[in-house]
Amino acid sequence: MWFPVKSSGVVSRTVGHVQAVDGVSFEVPKGGALGLVGESGCGKSTTGRLITRLYKPTSGSMYFGENRQDIAAMSNRQLKPLRRDVQMIFQDPYTSLNPRHTVGAIVGAPLEVHNVVPKKQVLKRVQELLEVVGLNPEHYNRYPNEFSGGQRQRIGIARALTLNPKLLVADEPVSALDVSIQAQVINLLQDLQKEFDIAFLFIAHDLAVVRHFCPEVAVMYLGKIVEIADRDTLYKSSHHPYTQALLSAVPDIKQAAVGGRRERIRLEGDVPSPINPPSGCRFRTRCPIAKEICAKVEPPLMQIGPRHKVACHFPAELGKAPQHPVTAGLLGVDSQGSPDAGVTPTAIAEGPGYEKQWFDLQRREMVSA
Ligand SMILES: Nc1ncnc2c1ncn2[C@@H]1O[C@H](COP(=O)(O)OP(=O)(O)O)[C@@H](O)[C@H]1O
Ligand code: SF4
Ligand SMILES: [Mg+2]
Repeated sequence: MWFPVKSSGVVSRTVGHVQAVDGVSFEVPKGGALGLVGESGCGKSTTGRLITRLYKPTSGSMYFGENRQDIAAMSNRQLKPLRRDVQMIFQDPYTSLNPRHTVGAIVGAPLEVHNVVPKKQVLKRVQELLEVVGLNPEHYNRYPNEFSGGQRQRIGIARALTLNPKLLVADEPVSALDVSIQAQVINLLQDLQKEFDIAFLFIAHDLAVVRHFCPEVAVMYLGKIVEIADRDTLYKSSHHPYTQALLSAVPDIKQAAVGGRRERIRLEGDVPSPINPPSGCRFRTRCPIAKEICAKVEPPLMQIGPRHKVACHFPAELGKAPQHPVTAGLLGVDSQGSPDAGVTPTAIAEGPGYEKQWFDLQRREMVSA
Protein backbone atom coordinates (compact mmCIF):
# COMPACT_ATOMS: atom_id res chain seq x y z
CA MET A 1 0.00 0.00 0.00
CA TRP A 2 1.60 3.17 -1.22
CA PHE A 3 -0.16 6.46 -0.48
CA PRO A 4 0.53 9.26 -2.96
CA VAL A 5 2.12 12.44 -1.61
CA LYS A 6 0.70 15.49 -3.40
CA SER A 7 2.40 18.84 -3.93
CA SER A 8 0.55 21.90 -2.71
CA GLY A 9 -0.49 24.58 -5.19
CA VAL A 10 -3.22 25.06 -7.73
CA VAL A 11 -2.41 21.94 -9.71
CA SER A 12 -1.37 19.26 -7.28
CA ARG A 13 0.99 16.65 -8.61
CA THR A 14 2.11 13.39 -7.07
CA VAL A 15 5.62 14.08 -5.80
CA GLY A 16 6.28 10.82 -4.00
CA HIS A 17 4.74 7.92 -2.15
CA VAL A 18 4.41 6.88 1.48
CA GLN A 19 5.49 3.26 1.29
CA ALA A 20 3.27 2.37 4.22
CA VAL A 21 3.10 -1.39 3.70
CA ASP A 22 5.55 -2.81 1.22
CA GLY A 23 5.45 -6.45 0.21
CA VAL A 24 4.35 -8.10 3.43
CA SER A 25 3.28 -11.72 3.22
CA PHE A 26 1.68 -13.72 6.00
CA GLU A 27 -1.19 -16.03 6.73
CA VAL A 28 -3.75 -16.25 9.52
CA PRO A 29 -5.01 -19.80 9.99
CA LYS A 30 -8.74 -20.51 10.33
CA GLY A 31 -9.66 -19.95 13.97
CA GLY A 32 -6.02 -19.08 14.77
CA ALA A 33 -4.33 -15.89 15.92
CA LEU A 34 -1.42 -13.97 14.44
CA GLY A 35 0.12 -11.09 16.37
CA LEU A 36 1.44 -8.12 14.37
CA VAL A 37 3.87 -6.00 16.35
CA GLY A 38 5.97 -2.92 15.67
CA GLU A 39 6.54 0.72 16.60
CA SER A 40 4.06 3.42 15.77
CA GLY A 41 4.04 4.27 12.06
CA CYS A 42 5.39 0.92 10.80
CA GLY A 43 2.21 0.12 8.89
CA LYS A 44 0.20 -2.07 11.25
CA SER A 45 -3.10 -0.19 11.00
CA THR A 46 -2.72 0.13 7.24
CA THR A 47 -2.30 -3.66 7.05
CA GLY A 48 -5.46 -4.11 9.13
CA ARG A 49 -7.38 -1.66 6.99
CA LEU A 50 -6.27 -3.45 3.85
CA ILE A 51 -7.51 -6.80 5.14
CA THR A 52 -10.87 -5.33 6.04
CA ARG A 53 -10.73 -3.57 2.66
CA LEU A 54 -11.20 -0.12 4.12
CA TYR A 55 -8.30 0.52 1.72
CA LYS A 56 -7.81 -0.96 -1.72
CA PRO A 57 -4.19 -2.14 -2.04
CA THR A 58 -1.89 -0.56 -4.62
CA SER A 59 -0.91 -4.08 -5.67
CA GLY A 60 -0.79 -7.59 -4.30
CA SER A 61 -3.29 -10.27 -3.38
CA MET A 62 -5.24 -11.24 -0.27
CA TYR A 63 -6.89 -14.64 -0.22
CA PHE A 64 -9.80 -15.30 2.07
CA GLY A 65 -11.88 -18.32 2.96
CA GLU A 66 -12.07 -21.90 1.78
CA ASN A 67 -12.21 -21.07 -1.92
CA ARG A 68 -9.38 -18.56 -1.57
CA GLN A 69 -11.08 -15.59 -3.20
CA ASP A 70 -8.70 -12.74 -3.95
CA ILE A 71 -10.34 -9.90 -2.06
CA ALA A 72 -7.70 -7.35 -3.07
CA ALA A 73 -9.28 -6.63 -6.42
CA MET A 74 -12.98 -6.93 -5.53
CA SER A 75 -15.52 -4.19 -6.15
CA ASN A 76 -17.68 -2.87 -3.30
CA ARG A 77 -20.61 -4.96 -4.48
CA GLN A 78 -18.53 -8.14 -4.53
CA LEU A 79 -17.21 -7.26 -1.08
CA LYS A 80 -20.59 -7.16 0.64
CA PRO A 81 -20.53 -10.78 1.90
CA LEU A 82 -16.92 -10.30 3.01
CA ARG A 83 -17.89 -7.29 5.08
CA ARG A 84 -19.85 -9.67 7.30
CA ASP A 85 -17.03 -12.18 7.63
CA VAL A 86 -14.22 -9.76 8.44
CA GLN A 87 -14.68 -7.23 11.23
CA MET A 88 -12.42 -4.75 12.99
CA ILE A 89 -12.03 -3.69 16.61
CA PHE A 90 -10.52 -0.23 16.88
CA GLN A 91 -7.88 1.12 19.20
CA ASP A 92 -9.78 4.00 20.72
CA PRO A 93 -13.11 3.09 22.33
CA TYR A 94 -13.74 6.79 22.93
CA THR A 95 -13.79 7.90 19.29
CA SER A 96 -14.92 4.72 17.55
CA LEU A 97 -18.45 4.76 19.06
CA ASN A 98 -20.91 7.42 17.95
CA PRO A 99 -21.76 9.40 21.12
CA ARG A 100 -25.25 10.24 19.84
CA HIS A 101 -26.34 6.64 19.38
CA THR A 102 -27.45 4.27 22.11
CA VAL A 103 -25.52 1.07 22.65
CA GLY A 104 -28.48 -0.82 21.21
CA ALA A 105 -28.32 1.20 17.99
CA ILE A 106 -24.54 0.82 17.74
CA VAL A 107 -24.49 -2.94 18.25
CA GLY A 108 -27.67 -3.52 16.25
CA ALA A 109 -26.74 -1.39 13.22
CA PRO A 110 -24.86 -4.12 11.32
CA LEU A 111 -27.89 -6.44 11.72
CA GLU A 112 -30.11 -3.92 9.99
CA VAL A 113 -27.62 -2.96 7.30
CA HIS A 114 -27.13 -6.60 6.34
CA ASN A 115 -30.74 -7.56 6.95
CA VAL A 116 -29.78 -10.66 8.87
CA VAL A 117 -32.57 -10.86 11.44
CA PRO A 118 -36.15 -9.56 11.31
CA LYS A 119 -36.49 -6.09 12.90
CA LYS A 120 -38.40 -7.48 15.86
CA GLN A 121 -35.50 -9.73 16.84
CA VAL A 122 -32.76 -7.09 16.71
CA LEU A 123 -33.14 -6.07 20.35
CA LYS A 124 -33.02 -9.68 21.53
CA ARG A 125 -29.82 -10.30 19.55
CA VAL A 126 -28.27 -7.07 20.86
CA GLN A 127 -29.00 -8.12 24.44
CA GLU A 128 -27.47 -11.55 23.83
CA LEU A 129 -24.34 -9.90 22.50
CA LEU A 130 -24.08 -7.51 25.44
CA GLU A 131 -24.27 -10.50 27.74
CA VAL A 132 -21.59 -12.36 25.77
CA VAL A 133 -19.14 -9.47 26.25
CA GLY A 134 -19.93 -9.14 29.94
CA LEU A 135 -22.20 -6.08 29.90
CA ASN A 136 -25.64 -5.74 31.45
CA PRO A 137 -28.18 -6.54 28.69
CA GLU A 138 -30.58 -4.04 30.25
CA HIS A 139 -28.19 -1.20 29.42
CA TYR A 140 -28.93 -1.26 25.67
CA ASN A 141 -30.59 2.16 25.78
CA ARG A 142 -27.67 3.95 27.43
CA TYR A 143 -25.15 6.13 25.59
CA PRO A 144 -21.41 5.44 25.24
CA ASN A 145 -20.45 8.24 27.65
CA GLU A 146 -22.23 6.37 30.45
CA PHE A 147 -19.62 3.61 30.23
CA SER A 148 -15.98 3.32 31.31
CA GLY A 149 -13.15 2.80 28.79
CA GLY A 150 -13.07 -0.96 29.32
CA GLN A 151 -16.84 -1.21 28.97
CA ARG A 152 -16.76 0.87 25.81
CA GLN A 153 -14.23 -1.48 24.31
CA ARG A 154 -16.64 -4.32 25.17
CA ILE A 155 -19.33 -2.47 23.22
CA GLY A 156 -16.92 -2.22 20.27
CA ILE A 157 -16.29 -5.96 20.57
CA ALA A 158 -20.03 -6.72 20.70
CA ARG A 159 -20.50 -4.66 17.54
CA ALA A 160 -17.71 -6.58 15.82
CA LEU A 161 -19.34 -9.90 16.80
CA THR A 162 -22.83 -8.97 15.60
CA LEU A 163 -22.51 -10.66 12.22
CA ASN A 164 -20.63 -13.79 13.38
CA PRO A 165 -17.33 -12.88 11.72
CA LYS A 166 -14.74 -15.46 10.69
CA LEU A 167 -11.84 -13.04 11.06
CA LEU A 168 -11.42 -10.19 13.52
CA VAL A 169 -8.76 -7.55 13.02
CA ALA A 170 -8.09 -6.09 16.46
CA ASP A 171 -6.04 -2.90 16.05
CA GLU A 172 -4.34 -2.24 19.39
CA PRO A 173 -7.62 -3.06 21.16
CA VAL A 174 -6.22 -2.47 24.65
CA SER A 175 -3.64 0.30 24.11
CA ALA A 176 -6.04 3.02 25.26
CA LEU A 177 -7.07 1.15 28.43
CA ASP A 178 -5.66 1.10 31.95
CA VAL A 179 -3.27 -1.77 32.57
CA SER A 180 -5.67 -3.36 35.08
CA ILE A 181 -8.44 -3.42 32.45
CA GLN A 182 -6.20 -4.61 29.60
CA ALA A 183 -5.98 -8.17 30.91
CA GLN A 184 -9.76 -8.42 31.30
CA VAL A 185 -10.35 -7.36 27.71
CA ILE A 186 -7.66 -9.69 26.38
CA ASN A 187 -9.17 -12.58 28.35
CA LEU A 188 -12.57 -11.75 26.90
CA LEU A 189 -11.17 -11.80 23.36
CA GLN A 190 -9.45 -15.09 24.03
CA ASP A 191 -12.68 -16.66 25.36
CA LEU A 192 -14.61 -15.40 22.35
CA GLN A 193 -12.01 -16.78 20.00
CA LYS A 194 -12.36 -20.26 21.47
CA GLU A 195 -16.12 -20.15 21.79
CA PHE A 196 -16.87 -18.88 18.30
CA ASP A 197 -13.81 -20.19 16.44
CA ILE A 198 -12.87 -16.73 15.16
CA ALA A 199 -9.48 -16.08 13.58
CA PHE A 200 -7.62 -13.01 14.89
CA LEU A 201 -5.12 -10.61 13.49
CA PHE A 202 -4.05 -8.98 16.73
CA ILE A 203 -2.15 -5.73 16.29
CA ALA A 204 -0.04 -4.34 19.14
CA HIS A 205 2.92 -2.01 19.55
CA ASP A 206 4.74 -4.18 22.04
CA LEU A 207 5.50 -7.86 22.31
CA ALA A 208 4.14 -8.28 25.85
CA VAL A 209 0.49 -7.87 24.84
CA VAL A 210 0.40 -10.52 22.10
CA ARG A 211 2.48 -13.06 23.98
CA HIS A 212 -0.41 -14.84 25.67
CA PHE A 213 -2.85 -14.44 22.84
CA CYS A 214 -1.02 -15.35 19.67
CA PRO A 215 0.69 -18.68 18.84
CA GLU A 216 2.34 -16.92 15.89
CA VAL A 217 3.89 -13.43 15.87
CA ALA A 218 5.11 -11.16 13.06
CA VAL A 219 7.34 -8.15 13.73
CA MET A 220 7.08 -5.16 11.37
CA TYR A 221 9.49 -2.32 10.74
CA LEU A 222 8.89 0.53 8.29
CA GLY A 223 6.35 -1.30 6.16
CA LYS A 224 8.09 -4.69 6.06
CA ILE A 225 7.94 -7.87 8.10
CA VAL A 226 11.41 -8.41 9.57
CA GLU A 227 10.74 -11.58 11.53
CA ILE A 228 7.87 -14.02 11.86
CA ALA A 229 7.81 -17.16 13.97
CA ASP A 230 5.85 -19.32 16.33
CA ARG A 231 5.64 -17.91 19.83
CA ASP A 232 8.32 -20.03 21.50
CA THR A 233 10.87 -19.41 18.79
CA LEU A 234 10.23 -15.68 18.68
CA TYR A 235 10.41 -15.08 22.42
CA LYS A 236 13.24 -17.52 23.18
CA SER A 237 15.35 -17.38 20.07
CA SER A 238 14.66 -14.30 17.97
CA HIS A 239 17.23 -13.79 15.21
CA HIS A 240 16.57 -10.19 14.13
CA PRO A 241 18.26 -7.24 15.88
CA TYR A 242 15.00 -5.26 15.81
CA THR A 243 12.98 -8.05 17.48
CA GLN A 244 15.76 -8.37 20.04
CA ALA A 245 15.53 -4.67 20.82
CA LEU A 246 11.75 -4.89 21.22
CA LEU A 247 12.11 -7.96 23.43
CA SER A 248 14.64 -6.24 25.65
CA ALA A 249 11.89 -3.79 26.59
CA VAL A 250 9.48 -6.56 27.70
CA PRO A 251 9.64 -7.27 31.44
CA ASP A 252 10.77 -10.83 32.05
CA ILE A 253 9.30 -12.29 35.22
CA LYS A 254 11.60 -15.33 35.31
CA GLN A 255 14.64 -13.12 35.00
CA ALA A 256 13.35 -10.86 37.77
CA ALA A 257 12.87 -13.90 40.04
CA VAL A 258 16.52 -14.94 39.77
CA GLY A 259 17.64 -11.37 40.23
CA GLY A 260 18.98 -8.86 37.75
CA ARG A 261 17.26 -7.88 34.56
CA ARG A 262 17.85 -8.15 30.88
CA GLU A 263 19.92 -5.35 29.46
CA ARG A 264 17.68 -2.93 27.62
CA ILE A 265 18.75 -2.30 24.03
CA ARG A 266 18.13 1.33 23.19
CA LEU A 267 17.67 2.08 19.51
CA GLU A 268 19.31 5.31 18.46
CA GLY A 269 17.46 7.92 16.44
CA ASP A 270 13.97 7.99 15.01
CA VAL A 271 12.19 5.71 12.60
CA PRO A 272 13.08 7.03 9.11
CA SER A 273 10.36 8.38 6.82
CA PRO A 274 8.48 5.77 4.77
CA ILE A 275 8.46 8.31 1.92
CA ASN A 276 12.18 7.85 1.45
CA PRO A 277 13.17 4.67 3.30
CA PRO A 278 16.87 3.70 3.66
CA SER A 279 18.39 1.64 0.83
CA GLY A 280 19.05 -2.03 1.39
CA CYS A 281 17.81 -3.03 4.83
CA ARG A 282 15.31 -0.47 6.10
CA PHE A 283 16.50 -1.02 9.68
CA ARG A 284 20.15 -0.28 8.94
CA THR A 285 20.15 3.34 10.14
CA ARG A 286 19.32 2.12 13.65
CA CYS A 287 20.81 -1.36 13.62
CA PRO A 288 23.64 -1.91 16.12
CA ILE A 289 25.32 -4.54 13.89
CA ALA A 290 24.82 -3.07 10.39
CA LYS A 291 27.63 -3.63 7.85
CA GLU A 292 28.37 -2.52 4.30
CA ILE A 293 26.12 -5.08 2.62
CA CYS A 294 23.12 -3.81 4.60
CA ALA A 295 23.08 -0.52 2.70
CA LYS A 296 23.37 -2.19 -0.71
CA VAL A 297 21.19 -5.27 -0.63
CA GLU A 298 17.77 -5.76 0.87
CA PRO A 299 17.72 -8.90 3.03
CA PRO A 300 14.91 -11.27 1.93
CA LEU A 301 12.47 -12.67 4.48
CA MET A 302 14.11 -16.08 4.57
CA GLN A 303 12.91 -19.22 6.31
CA ILE A 304 15.53 -20.47 8.78
CA GLY A 305 13.54 -23.07 10.71
CA PRO A 306 10.30 -25.05 10.51
CA ARG A 307 8.26 -22.03 11.66
CA HIS A 308 10.70 -19.15 11.57
CA LYS A 309 11.49 -16.50 8.97
CA VAL A 310 13.87 -13.58 9.33
CA ALA A 311 14.97 -10.70 7.08
CA CYS A 312 18.59 -10.01 8.03
CA HIS A 313 22.00 -10.63 6.45
CA PHE A 314 23.41 -11.58 9.88
CA PRO A 315 20.63 -13.52 11.61
CA ALA A 316 21.60 -14.91 15.00
CA GLU A 317 20.62 -14.92 18.64
CA LEU A 318 21.56 -11.77 20.52
CA GLY A 319 25.34 -11.27 20.65
CA LYS A 320 26.11 -14.19 18.29
CA ALA A 321 25.99 -12.41 14.93
CA PRO A 322 28.23 -14.10 12.33
CA GLN A 323 31.20 -12.25 10.78
CA HIS A 324 30.06 -12.81 7.21
CA PRO A 325 26.58 -12.33 5.79
CA VAL A 326 24.82 -15.69 5.57
CA THR A 327 22.72 -14.42 2.66
CA ALA A 328 25.61 -13.55 0.30
CA GLY A 329 25.85 -16.96 -1.39
CA LEU A 330 22.08 -17.19 -1.75
CA LEU A 331 21.75 -13.73 -3.28
CA GLY A 332 24.76 -14.00 -5.60
CA VAL A 333 26.72 -11.16 -3.98
CA ASP A 334 30.02 -11.00 -2.10
CA SER A 335 30.24 -10.18 1.59
CA GLN A 336 30.26 -6.43 0.84
CA GLY A 337 27.08 -6.80 -1.18
CA SER A 338 28.60 -6.31 -4.65
CA PRO A 339 27.43 -8.65 -7.41
CA ASP A 340 29.50 -11.84 -7.50
CA ALA A 341 29.56 -13.19 -11.05
CA GLY A 342 30.75 -16.59 -9.88
CA VAL A 343 27.64 -17.33 -7.80
CA THR A 344 24.14 -18.08 -9.09
CA PRO A 345 21.44 -16.70 -6.81
CA THR A 346 19.08 -19.21 -5.17
CA ALA A 347 15.33 -18.60 -5.41
CA ILE A 348 13.94 -17.71 -2.00
CA ALA A 349 10.26 -18.49 -1.42
CA GLU A 350 8.34 -15.26 -0.81
CA GLY A 351 4.84 -16.60 -0.23
CA PRO A 352 2.93 -16.58 3.04
CA GLY A 353 3.17 -19.47 5.49
CA TYR A 354 6.09 -21.87 5.79
CA GLU A 355 7.80 -24.25 3.37
CA LYS A 356 9.02 -27.76 4.16
CA GLN A 357 12.55 -26.66 3.27
CA TRP A 358 14.57 -23.93 4.89
CA PHE A 359 18.05 -22.49 5.14
CA ASP A 360 19.95 -24.04 8.03
CA LEU A 361 22.17 -21.39 9.61
CA GLN A 362 24.70 -23.81 11.10
CA ARG A 363 25.19 -25.91 7.97
CA ARG A 364 24.71 -22.93 5.67
CA GLU A 365 22.59 -24.95 3.26
CA MET A 366 18.98 -25.80 2.53
CA VAL A 367 17.59 -28.63 4.67
CA SER A 368 14.24 -30.45 4.61
CA ALA A 369 11.84 -31.25 7.42
N1 LIG B 1 -4.28 7.60 4.52
C1 LIG B 1 -2.95 7.82 4.57
N2 LIG B 1 -2.36 8.68 3.72
C2 LIG B 1 -1.02 8.89 3.74
N3 LIG B 1 -0.17 8.28 4.61
C3 LIG B 1 -0.70 7.42 5.49
C4 LIG B 1 -2.12 7.15 5.53
N4 LIG B 1 -2.34 6.25 6.53
C5 LIG B 1 -1.15 5.98 7.07
N5 LIG B 1 -0.16 6.68 6.46
C6 LIG B 1 1.28 6.62 6.75
O1 LIG B 1 1.66 5.27 6.62
C7 LIG B 1 2.56 4.89 7.63
C8 LIG B 1 2.01 3.72 8.42
O2 LIG B 1 0.91 4.17 9.20
P1 LIG B 1 0.05 3.18 10.10
O3 LIG B 1 -0.37 2.02 9.30
O4 LIG B 1 -1.01 3.99 10.73
O5 LIG B 1 1.11 2.70 11.21
P2 LIG B 1 0.90 2.05 12.65
O6 LIG B 1 -0.52 1.59 12.75
O7 LIG B 1 1.90 0.94 12.68
O8 LIG B 1 1.23 3.11 13.64
C9 LIG B 1 2.80 6.13 8.47
O9 LIG B 1 3.97 6.74 8.02
C10 LIG B 1 1.59 6.96 8.19
O10 LIG B 1 1.90 8.34 8.32
S1 SF4 C 1 20.39 -6.72 7.48
FE1 SF4 C 1 22.01 -5.52 8.43
S2 SF4 C 1 21.05 -3.61 9.06
FE2 SF4 C 1 19.41 -5.07 8.61
S3 SF4 C 1 18.96 -5.96 10.57
FE3 SF4 C 1 20.44 -7.30 9.64
S4 SF4 C 1 22.43 -6.57 10.32
FE4 SF4 C 1 20.95 -4.96 10.80
MG1 LIG D 1 -1.94 2.06 14.21
